[in-house]
Amino acid sequence: MDNKNLRIKGARLKSTLEDMAKIGATPGGGVQRLALSDEDKEARDLFVSWLKEIDCEVTVDEMGNIFGKRPGKNNDLEPVMSGSHIDSQPKGGRFDGILGVMGPLEVLRTLHENNVKTERPIIIVDWTNEEGSRFAPAMIASGVWAGALERDWAYERTDINGKKQGEELERIGYKGPVPAKQWPVHAYYEYHIEQGPMLEKEGKEIGAPKGILCLHWYDIYLEGEANQVGPTPMEGRHDALCSAAEMILKVNEVPEKMKGNMVATVGEIQNYPNSRNIIPDGVHFTVDIRSWDDDQALRAWDSLKADFQEIADRRGTPIRMEETWRVEHAPFNEKLVKRVLESADELGYSSLHMVSGAGHDASYMNQICPTAMIFVPSIGGRSHVEVENTTWEDCEKGTNVLLHCILKSANER
Ligand code: GLV
Ligand code: MN
Ligand code: MN
Repeated sequence: MDNKNLRIKGARLKSTLEDMAKIGATPGGGVQRLALSDEDKEARDLFVSWLKEIDCEVTVDEMGNIFGKRPGKNNDLEPVMSGSHIDSQPKGGRFDGILGVMGPLEVLRTLHENNVKTERPIIIVDWTNEEGSRFAPAMIASGVWAGALERDWAYERTDINGKKQGEELERIGYKGPVPAKQWPVHAYYEYHIEQGPMLEKEGKEIGAPKGILCLHWYDIYLEGEANQVGPTPMEGRHDALCSAAEMILKVNEVPEKMKGNMVATVGEIQNYPNSRNIIPDGVHFTVDIRSWDDDQALRAWDSLKADFQEIADRRGTPIRMEETWRVEHAPFNEKLVKRVLESADELGYSSLHMVSGAGHDASYMNQICPTAMIFVPSIGGRSHVEVENTTWEDCEKGTNVLLHCILKSANER
């Protein structure tokens, strides 16, 4: 068969995604497969067994990244890579990440059954802990692999129960023997749901992001003075939670204040001792700032820092502010982005040149090799929620685009 007419099997992709969605399924129709949890392990094991079925050579590195390699005609040529993540948010959806691992798997199954040989090897990857929800930061294992983050620092990151990432990797049996160290890559494609409303709004089938916004994460710790809520007058209190409340609203207001195209969010908070009749004496909360303009994001943080300090001083609640993570905005490789748009066109799908507001491992891959992404619509623009949804037809279309992008890159000499 002429490669041009090659198509993936939508029904098989659907059943693969449905099998994966059973692992960590939540009552609300989503999945909870936190990084390095038992559910993550179960899904990894299944993925590895599927890779072996199509004769991929499987390796696991010391960050738990799983690579499945399909040899090319010339294995001295740099490989084409494609992948995403198997882990999910707490009460997350059935498509975020997993579509970008099962999509390339479906591509390799298609090549396998049609006996298609490519010039270059093709490697599928599942990156460990993309979400950063259990262990901050996000995209940590692709960050280590790309040389942007330190392996030992990553191992030491703890979850809310004090469990270390390195120990949890070992516990689930995915601390592999191979160094988490980049090799030369010819092209990297990451296939993902959009996670926003643009494709649906514009009535387009395929998104080709020109890149990803910068991501800046901060952790804020406030100290207050605990006391019995009944006898303690309102006057003179040092209530850490009230300080946090004022600060959180400043975060919500900062994009408008900066008059720019940016977003800022507080998504996580811990209040101590968290008892209704004790004035809170400790609060931890997170700040997430994203923009295409890295300087603007930094100016927003400068403005917040000043506001936070003023609030903390006025309320007598000492503050500690830590920068946890910073990834610069990632402008993708123009040739590959064009290839995504052209492949969509050749397949008869409409497309949109856009921007990714969500973070992806593609951000770190973009620092070391030509990178692009393929998006498909998220129904209602909802993601990181149990109702996250994408039609099976759209999943199939996106995977066909991925197939043809991979074929073109993998046949370049
Ligand atoms: C990753 O899911 C992110 O955008 O935070
Ligand atoms: Mn994702
Ligand atoms: Mn996500």
